[in-house]
Amino acid sequence: MLVARPTIIEFDLDRYLRNSKKVDLRGIDWGAVPDHVLSDGDVMCLHYMMDIEAHTVIYLRDLLATRVAADPQITAFLSCWVYEELWHGEAFSDFLRAYGIEVPAEPKLPDGSTPIPTRHNRWRDLRVRLGVGNGLGLLPTMLGSMAARDFAAIHMMWGAVNELTTLTAYHALIRRSDHPELHKLLRRVIRDERRHFAFYRAQAKARMGRSRAAQHIVRWALSRLWTPVGAGVKTEEEVDALAIYLFGDGPEGREQIGEIDRTIADVPGLEGLMLLEDYLDAALERAAARPGWAGAATTPAVTAAHTNGHSPSPIPAHWAAVGSARDD
Ligand SMILES: [Fe+2]
Ligand SMILES: [Fe+2]
Repeated sequence: MLVARPTIIEFDLDRYLRNSKKVDLRGIDWGAVPDHVLSDGDVMCLHYMMDIEAHTVIYLRDLLATRVAADPQITAFLSCWVYEELWHGEAFSDFLRAYGIEVPAEPKLPDGSTPIPTRHNRWRDLRVRLGVGNGLGLLPTMLGSMAARDFAAIHMMWGAVNELTTLTAYHALIRRSDHPELHKLLRRVIRDERRHFAFYRAQAKARMGRSRAAQHIVRWALSRLWTPVGAGVKTEEEVDALAIYLFGDGPEGREQIGEIDRTIADVPGLEGLMLLEDYLDAALERAAARPGWAGAATTPAVTAAHTNGHSPSPIPAHWAAVGSARDD
């Protein structure tokens, strides 16, 4: 068996591991969440983001079925990463509930609070629908893992693209939405996503910088297999709707998405790739060809909290328990 050379990465893993904690949402005025309006597009994004953050643990299951599980640095990172992502899902869940939206309605405790993990029925149904548990979803990753020595580089670069896309989407939602409490929540989550992105990119750059084979296989995999975060869990129309709402609204969205592509293209071997812009163009073409597709032709209607038929739940108390702010 080959002994892997140590991979030197530009990321302070020790510091990350020591400082990892659930996202600090102190300062969010939960009682004021229903006082500001979210558009239908904002609500769509929040549901998408909530579901995909909560799905991270299943993605982790797939990752650990590959040879990245042999690398203690990566598994240490993943241990904290998946914990932080869980709390991102819960943050979006709490935000939607505070606004007055909970679909499907979840059982409540006698004091009116919602047990954690929340959205138990929603997320279980999502995973059952995807066939989680029958193991079939593992096959491609396991086969791929055995076929390629540099396979870890694909997962690291894939993770970097996902994290960068996610944090840019959160910036785009800040631009699209006027909700001040949502802005606060997104900014806190973005801080975590930046660290996640930094780890994955550093890992990918180190692995690709030392191996032409890794560069080739990563470029091949991204060009042929890459789909946006959430594709597979969400339908093509839902992915298109999110892409068009967040990035297809004009030059600012186009600039944000171009920035993602430029950052990816900066990694050795990925020069000239335009994954995100190509996807957005394809989504806009689908919307133009099929009137009504992805809701792109209609102006997003405003959904007022008071008119959506639900009432806000009690203010979540668990965000007040986070310790002192992290110093990194
Ligand atoms: Fe996240
Ligand atoms: Fe993340």
